[in-house]
Amino acid sequence: MQNAPIIIQGAMASETDYLISLLKGCEKILVGHYPFYKGELDGVPVVVSRTLIGMVNATAATVLGISHFAPRAVLNQGTCGGHDPNLHKGDIVIGKRYYNAASVNTAFVPQGGGVNLANWQIRKVEAVVDDAVCEVPYFSPDPAFYAAALAAAPFYKHGRAVEGVISSADIWNRELDRINWAYQNYQSSAEEMEIAAVAQICDTFHVPVLGVRILSNNEILGEDFDESTGVLCQEFCRHILAQYTSPKEGL
Ligand code: 5AD
Repeated sequence: MQNAPIIIQGAMASETDYLISLLKGCEKILVGHYPFYKGELDGVPVVVSRTLIGMVNATAATVLGISHFAPRAVLNQGTCGGHDPNLHKGDIVIGKRYYNAASVNTAFVPQGGGVNLANWQIRKVEAVVDDAVCEVPYFSPDPAFYAAALAAAPFYKHGRAVEGVISSADIWNRELDRINWAYQNYQSSAEEMEIAAVAQICDTFHVPVLGVRILSNNEILGEDFDESTGVLCQEFCRHILAQYTSPKEGL
C-alpha cells in the first residue's frame, strides 16, 4: 500500500504543469482523453492527473484514476474564488468540508414570484458512504491526510493556509449576494468546480481524499482571477505530501 501512488489532481495546466515538471521518470498515460503523469515526486510515487474543469470531468478522471492506478490517496488541489471576506488572493483553504453547491432544493414560488436566494437550500447528495447508499450534506477529508495538511501549513509563506469549507459547482459566481449567502448559510470559505465530486467518488471506493485550494480571486475584495497562483498551491502540496508520507523529516 505504501508503494501505491498518490494521485494529485488539478483541472488546468496552470494547476498541474509545475508538478509534472518535477516528476522523476515521468510517463504520460492517456486514459480516454484524460491525461495522467506517473513518476516520483520528492521520492514519493505519484500520479499527476489533469482532470479538466468541472464536476463531470473531475468525476470521470477520479474514477479512471482509481481504477487504473489503485492509489493510496487522492489530493485534489488548484485555484478557487474566495467567499470569506478575510481571505485574500494567495491564501490557501485546507478543506475540512466539501459540498455540492449545485445540489439545491427551492421552495415553491408562484409565477411572477421572482427568484430569491432565501428560498434556496442545499440538497443532500445521494452517495455511497461506508458501503451504504445514503444522503449526505457534505463530504470530509481523510483525517490523516487532513492532519498532514495542517502540519504543512506553517511552511506556506505566500499568505495564510487555513481550514475552511469548500463549495463546488459548475458555476463561476460573481454575485456578491450569492457569495455572501454561501458564506453566511453554509460557512463556505471558497468556491471551485471539482472537489465535492472527487470526494464523493473517493468515499465510494474507500480512497482517502483531501481538497486544498488557493485563492486566485476574491470578488468581495475586487481581486481578479490570477492563474499564476496555481504554482504556489502545487508547491504547498509538496509539503503536504512530505508530512503525509514521512512526517518527521518534512520536505
Ligand atoms: N469560481 C469557480 N471556480 C473557480 N476556479 C478558480 N476560481 C473560481 C471561482 N471563483 C477554478 C475551478 C475550475 C477553474 C475554472 O478554476 O475549480 O477548475
